This record gives sequence, structure tokens and C-alpha cells, in this order.
Amino acid sequence: MTMTTTKTKTTDNPMIRTLTHTASGACCQIHETGATVLSYKDSSTKEWLFLSRDAVLDGRKAVRGGIPLVFPIFGPSPDGSTMPQHGFARVNKWTFNEASSSATDTAESASCIYTLDSGTAVAGRGTGNPWEAGGSVLASAQLLLKVEIGASQLKTTLTMTNTGESSSSGCFDFQALQHTYLAVDEHAANNGDQCWVQGLEGYTCTDKVDDSKTGAVHGKDNIVLVGEVDRVYAPPNGKNECKVKVGVGSGRTLQLAATAVVNGESQPVSTVVWNPAAAKAAAMGDFGSDQFVSMICVEPGLLSAASLEVGQSAVLEQTLSQV
Ligand code: BG6
Repeated sequence: MTMTTTKTKTTDNPMIRTLTHTASGACCQIHETGATVLSYKDSSTKEWLFLSRDAVLDGRKAVRGGIPLVFPIFGPSPDGSTMPQHGFARVNKWTFNEASSSATDTAESASCIYTLDSGTAVAGRGTGNPWEAGGSVLASAQLLLKVEIGASQLKTTLTMTNTGESSSSGCFDFQALQHTYLAVDEHAANNGDQCWVQGLEGYTCTDKVDDSKTGAVHGKDNIVLVGEVDRVYAPPNGKNECKVKVGVGSGRTLQLAATAVVNGESQPVSTVVWNPAAAKAAAMGDFGSDQFVSMICVEPGLLSAASLEVGQSAVLEQTLSQV
């Protein structure tokens, strides 16, 4: 079967493409800025992802919602660097791969590919870091995102390859994360019976809102959203895969599974749980001030020190499915 990916008809925005899985009718929309998956509707047309009604969709900034890709830093820059928070991948225009060989539309799934070469990614590089544009660039990478959809599954696979030449570029350190905004039905994000995260038993928490909770090992309780929540959960030794269940309102549950591999070796995946609550939502220009009750971010990432030598690759794969 051939690929059926078209520019969206619903928004008339040429930066957004729709990928349809013909066999099931499931579809997703992808914005070229950051190769951000904006929307995934399963075969029953149910939307799984949250997109802020105030999201900027003209390429001027990262998209507030969907699945922005975070690379090569998570959070603010280290001292001395001016690279913006969460890195440059989410603010640059990625290239849709037109080659039919990179796209599928079969009975099981439909897929397409976007790529970004750091050499052409001029936005968001900042200064005082190995990615500094125009300076003596030391780091060089190609990022490739494969988006694959089925009747009730959305898989996003991010491959990062060090494309440096040994003479001028070398090994780089990086973090990578899929900043997944899940839609919560019926404004129920603060209802702990309806919206929760399960599966992070034994993970060690870094709490960016309440530092007194940092260092605590999470037990069996559901993680629920009370006020602002901004936590990184690091897995216990020996547990690399992230596999969590998320209550998303109306009694629905999604499973989010993620794995990471660096140069062929499995790596631990940390999981961020984030909801800005009222005050922070209102302070963000691109976040509907009352919309924090309609989302939960569950973000799997490679957050501890990882590095790639020239020619090596890393893969961060996330699969969302219905439970
Ligand atoms: C989360 C971080 O991943 O992203 C939060 O843990 C941050 O600290 C949030 O506020 C949103 O970040 P941004 O840069 O998209 O506003």
C-alpha cells in the first residue's frame, strides 16, 4: 500500500501534515516545528493528546502541547551556556521525508519520518556550548523521528546520531526526552480518582516544586495532581524500561512505555510528571489559563549523563497504547 500523508485540511496550515492509517481510520497531525506530534485520534476518533488552545503554530516557538522533543538539554542550560530551556530540537523546522520507502500504510500501521540536521538548525543553539552556531561548532547530529500509528497505538521513535567528523567534531553529552502532553477528559486532572500515574514504585523523586520531597523513593501510591507538580522520577538500578499507566479521565487508562538505547546498550529511562496548575498556566502566554485541568504531562527521557562518539546513535522510543 502507498503512503497517505497530506497537508491538513482542517487548519489550512501548511506546516502541519496529517498521517492517516487507512485500515483503521486512526490519524495524527505533525507540525514541522520540532516534528511535534500535535494530535492522535484512535480508530474511534478519540483524541489522546492535549494541545493548548493558545499554542503558537506558525513556527515562531515550540508548540505547547502534543509531543515536543527535548534535545540536547532537559531544563535550563548549564552555567555559561545560553541555549534555551529544553534545547533546540523543538524550535527548529524539521524536514518531512518524502521518500515513499520511509513511509508505510499497511493493515497494522501507518508511519512517516521527519529529520533534523543540527547544521541547518539555526534557532535555539545559544552560545557557550558545543552546539554554538557560527562559532567553532564542536557537536553535530542528525535527529530522525519516526511516527507510527495504528488503530489504538501511537509510537514515536527518536534516533540521534553523532554526525561529526573526527577531525573537527567529537563526542557530545546530551539529554533527550519526549515531552508528552496527554489530554484528560472532563477537566478531571485534579480528580485523583480519574487522573493518576501508576508504575513508578521504587523510583527516586527529584521534586522541583517541593524540595523537601527530593530524594524520596516512591511507593505504591498513585501519583495524583495536587497543585503544581514538577517531578523527575529516576528508576532503581536494573530497571531501564519505563512502563506506566495513566488515568486520563472518563475511566479511561493509557499505557506509556519507553525504552532508551545508546550505542547498542539499554539505558535507564527517567519519567517526568508535570502539571503547571493555575498560576503557572496563567503566566504562560501560550497556555489557556483554565486548561491545566485538561492535561497531564508524562515525559520519558534519557536524563542522566549520556554521550555519543562520532558515528554512534541513540534511540528513545515511546509507545502509547490503550489499556
Ligand atoms: C517540564 C519541566 O518537563 O517542562 C518543567 O520539568 C517545565 O520544569 C515544563 O516547566 C515546561 O517547560 P517549557 O519550557 O515548555 O515551558
